Amino acid sequence: MAATYPILRMRRLRKTEAVRQLVRETALSPQDFIYPMFVTHGKGVRREISAMPGCYHLSPDEAVREAQEAQSLGIPAVLLFGIPAQKDGVGSEAYAENGIVQQAVRAIKGALPEMVVVTDVCLCEYTDHGHCGVIVDGHVENDRSVELIAKAAVSHAKAGADIVAPSDMMDGRVGAIRKALDAGGQSNVPIMSYAAKYASAFFGPFREAAGSTPQFGDRRGYQMDPANAREALREIELDISEGADIIMVKPALAYLDIIARARQRFDLPIAAYNVSGEYSMLKAAARNGWLDERRSVMETLTSIKRAGADIIITYHAKDAARWLRE
Ligand code: PBG
Ligand code: ZN
Repeated sequence: MAATYPILRMRRLRKTEAVRQLVRETALSPQDFIYPMFVTHGKGVRREISAMPGCYHLSPDEAVREAQEAQSLGIPAVLLFGIPAQKDGVGSEAYAENGIVQQAVRAIKGALPEMVVVTDVCLCEYTDHGHCGVIVDGHVENDRSVELIAKAAVSHAKAGADIVAPSDMMDGRVGAIRKALDAGGQSNVPIMSYAAKYASAFFGPFREAAGSTPQFGDRRGYQMDPANAREALREIELDISEGADIIMVKPALAYLDIIARARQRFDLPIAAYNVSGEYSMLKAAARNGWLDERRSVMETLTSIKRAGADIIITYHAKDAARWLRE
């Protein structure tokens, strides 16, 4: 029988920081992080996003500076979102050769060839109605949307993206993207799929940042119901069967159980997206003096890693990397 109190005293291993370090089960590293950035047209543009203090709309030249800073802090990857010059019904700039993401990819890869540049592949930032696909008869039409999303992925890869990350939640998009990339000579570009992405209130600040709030209806017809866990495993399994190289759970905090279950079931790298609302909550509370920012951020990121994520996509990446160095 295992020892119990008073032979066993759990506090013995909590006595000093050195002992605690020795028995610590989870260690964060800047290498775990992907730093998301919002890129916009222009030069010298660095406009703070009001709902996300510390995050900016960046023109490609400023995005290079930001990526450089991330790299100097040991962060290996950035994730790009585009703010287009113009939005239309079919999200044309998402797959335009000279679209904003394509420009930013070329600028960052040109200046920092070692930086892993991941691109978010979706239509919602580029459509005037704000949905992640095209609208036919008032509905988001799956198969036509998938064609355009695959086209966007190929154009990102052509611009030099290292990894493409489809976030639309259309059925069959991972397979379509794989096929289109392979046909376009991009068979070495991995797909990180937003496999289990929930219809979440925690995307609120992002939609302000990207101007991508749906102009009618909501995303519940394609993003997942927050009440479902088994369905997430089916979504992940499907994406793997279609050729996903990395799978993602999003958001992270309200879905740590999904991360843990995915970790038990699948052997692919798992990414978790610590989304805009999760970031803004801590920022707001810290600014009010209600939470210690450093401790609450590190505890949050540790929980995501402890749940089983290999990769954490987070707006806190630069701060956390700095704190990890101290
Ligand atoms: C685009 C996309 C969204 C996010 C990532 N890609 C918004 C959405 O689906 O509404 C959310 C990121 C965040 O909240 O930080 N489909
Ligand atoms: Zn979208």
